[in-house]
Amino acid sequence: MKKFLPVSFRARIIMLYTIIFSLTLIIFGFYLYKDFGRRLNRNVEDLLVSRADSVVDSIESFWEKEKMDAAAKGIKLDEIHKLDEAQFALMAQNWVNKRSKDPLLFNIVVTIFDRQGKEVASTKTLVRSIPLRNDILATVLRGQSRLDDLEVEMTRGRLAPFRALTFPVMIDDKISYLVRVMTPLSALHSTMRELRLILFLILPLAIIFSGLSAWFLAGITLRPVKKIINTARLIGAENLKARIALPESHDEIRLLAETFNEMLDRLEKTFSSQREFIEDFSHEIKTPLAIIKGELEVTLKKIRSVKEYETTLHSSLEEIDRIIKVVDDLLTLARLEARDFILSSDSVKLAELVQELVKEVEILARRKNLRVDFEKTFNPQVSGDRDKLKKVFLNLLDNAIKFTPAGGRIGIAVGVESNLAKVQIADTGPGISPEQLPRIFDRFYRATKDDSLPGSGLGLSIVKAIVEAHRGKVDVESKPGQGSVFTVYLPLSSSNY
Ligand SMILES: Nc1ncnc2c1ncn2[C@@H]1O[C@H](COP(=O)(O)OP(=O)(O)O)[C@@H](O)[C@H]1O
Ligand SMILES: [Mg+2]
Repeated sequence: MKKFLPVSFRARIIMLYTIIFSLTLIIFGFYLYKDFGRRLNRNVEDLLVSRADSVVDSIESFWEKEKMDAAAKGIKLDEIHKLDEAQFALMAQNWVNKRSKDPLLFNIVVTIFDRQGKEVASTKTLVRSIPLRNDILATVLRGQSRLDDLEVEMTRGRLAPFRALTFPVMIDDKISYLVRVMTPLSALHSTMRELRLILFLILPLAIIFSGLSAWFLAGITLRPVKKIINTARLIGAENLKARIALPESHDEIRLLAETFNEMLDRLEKTFSSQREFIEDFSHEIKTPLAIIKGELEVTLKKIRSVKEYETTLHSSLEEIDRIIKVVDDLLTLARLEARDFILSSDSVKLAELVQELVKEVEILARRKNLRVDFEKTFNPQVSGDRDKLKKVFLNLLDNAIKFTPAGGRIGIAVGVESNLAKVQIADTGPGISPEQLPRIFDRFYRATKDDSLPGSGLGLSIVKAIVEAHRGKVDVESKPGQGSVFTVYLPLSSSNY
């Protein structure tokens, strides 16, 4: 088996919390960075497109004005697209000279090319002019515009990144000239660099912060649990009185404390009934043992006749039988209650079984001059342990005969009631007072004050345990002075139908 290092609950919470928090942050940061970059790039492109439009407008209107000024002087100038190379270069140069200081073109480099892609004018004099790359020229001459990232030498030896929009200016479906607008990307790049730096700095800080807050939160959450643990440590078999103080809140922790206290209640009850049981049991076997001891001691005081020894041994044997019966009964009870035995499932015809038992005990009844009536309205069949069921009815019959005074009557009836087999044993005995009635099924409990009657108070506990193991129940009704009625109900087996 694999052995794990013990990891405290608190540590697990902290770990989990920190991992989740960091992952969220990393994903969020990554998304933020990407999105921000996309937006900045789009801004640059939008700027280039809008500048490109205004540059073309500005060139056109510049030439219109030149034409008007010339007309005032009586000179007629051509349309832009009709200019020859030299005239166009001159016009472009003039436009550049006029517009190079335009604040609208701040941070924008405008370069004008002729139809062949030869540079004719530029708003900024670069260290080295950048000719149109062949692939760019090819695209633009096909009538399309193009976005490209270029390296531009601003000061000698230092390249800077630029983005360039190159496009053709069409007049009457024909390319008249080409324009390139460029803007530096250094601001964009440094912004992204800063954002990256911030994110990388924030991440470890946030992880530390989340770990700390998880540590703190887990501490608060686990404090009541610690209390419960401390109380539980104090509790042992000899100190079952301690209870956990319930917290004010109505939450799981309170429920845990309540459940724990309830468990302690049950444990305490079990322990005390265990103690009572040991006391009762010791008492029960102490009496016969004391009798045996006394008789043996007296007998041994002097030499006795064989007859006298025999009497003593017989009497001792009787007491030993009493002890054996108590121990047997207790063993039966313990096994029934622990349910660590398998009930055999004989098919039992109740009326027949009870009638047999009645026959067995009739001699005893006759000795006490008791009338025994047996009545059956039905012979219900139940599935169960024949020997155990015998024990049930023998115990009840034994009680009836034992407690009913001479001249009384015992009535036994077997029948069926609301789908249950029913066996009733009634007597005209002394009855049981209402205060004692609920306790007669307890172990060792005897309601009778008459010590001459044999018994240990285990009979009815066994009756109840056996009947309940058969999923049945025992009822008792009793009127002091008039008699008692014990009724056993057992589930019918399917063969009755
Ligand atoms: N038929 C009965 N009539 C009056 N009292 C009864 C009857 N059956 C049981 N009891 C009372 O219930 C007590 C418990 O019965 P039981 O468990 O059989 O113990 P035991 O027979 O050993 O005294 C008896 O001591 C007696 O006081
Ligand atoms: Mg009894």
